[in-house]
Amino acid sequence: MKKHDFGTLPIKDLVSISQLCAADIATIFSAAGELKRNRYKHDALLRGRRLAMIFEKESLRTRFTFDVGIQDLGGSAVFLDHRDARLGSRESIKDVARNLERWVHGIVARTFKHKHVEELAANCSIPVVNGLSDFMHPCQALTDFFTLTEKLGDVRGRKLAYVGDGNNTCHSLLQVASKLGCHISVGTPEGYEPNSRIVSEAMLSSRESGSIVEITNDAEAAVAGADAVYTDVWASMGQEDEREERAAIFLDYQVDEDLMARAKPNALFMHCLPAHRGHEVSAGVMDGPNAVVYDIAENRLHVQKAILVLLMGKPALVPVGV
Ligand code: CP
Ligand code: NVA
Repeated sequence: MKKHDFGTLPIKDLVSISQLCAADIATIFSAAGELKRNRYKHDALLRGRRLAMIFEKESLRTRFTFDVGIQDLGGSAVFLDHRDARLGSRESIKDVARNLERWVHGIVARTFKHKHVEELAANCSIPVVNGLSDFMHPCQALTDFFTLTEKLGDVRGRKLAYVGDGNNTCHSLLQVASKLGCHISVGTPEGYEPNSRIVSEAMLSSRESGSIVEITNDAEAAVAGADAVYTDVWASMGQEDEREERAAIFLDYQVDEDLMARAKPNALFMHCLPAHRGHEVSAGVMDGPNAVVYDIAENRLHVQKAILVLLMGKPALVPVGV
């Protein structure tokens, strides 16, 4: 097979979308497209490369897709379950990073504190990928927009509505949308708006890309005329104690058939999963014909393989000390 040119990314780690420009996102999407078209034909790209996966929280999609993804590329993964002992509790994060870089060629980390992924990345020479922190979910948002591009073509001038909690997923979506020129409207209950620094950053990017960023407490206004409607859990991992309180506060923010009727006809329904039918989404919408949730889940594999190839495939990357 003719060698495919995957291009390059000018970064060591992927901790936040703020590290990427629109052209970098295009490079990731193009690589993901090739890896999707020819899933089993790139099985030597990361031959012999080892990936450490450090997870402080539960996961189905992120864990599976990174593990299966590196295997598709000829490498292998080692899973570190940190649900009982959080990163930094037995030894410093700096020392964890300095050990891991001697054994493996990349790290995926799912942490409670965003600064812990940053600390890992700052203290080792190998790539660190954020597999979700309390503040960001970059691999998810990249996959969401890769999927939107597959479904709608160029997303410039399209509108994505996000309804629910202004959380990690919402932050990363705001960043990708505003860089790619896609309008984004976020509808949350009062007090659950996305972080103001992320909103300001998105507004700044949107001025360059020509998109509109809107933050409102009115779910119907957020969804009006949208090409796609997105929601996520009302209580994220780590907020389990607030579940009941939030269920009452978020009641009017359920994405159901009535709310979807405010969007464009046949607007897509998106969710990062896991989903709770009867809470943030009605069963009818979740299982309806316009839901693309499992397409997104599939695409996590292709997009994350692209990220691994682009970050771990660099020839200069050999463990330090070797
Ligand atoms: N969407 C997502 O990240 O799923 P997991 O929590 O199962 O990895
Ligand atoms: N906002 C959710 C996303 C789960 C993939 C959480 O952090 O739990």
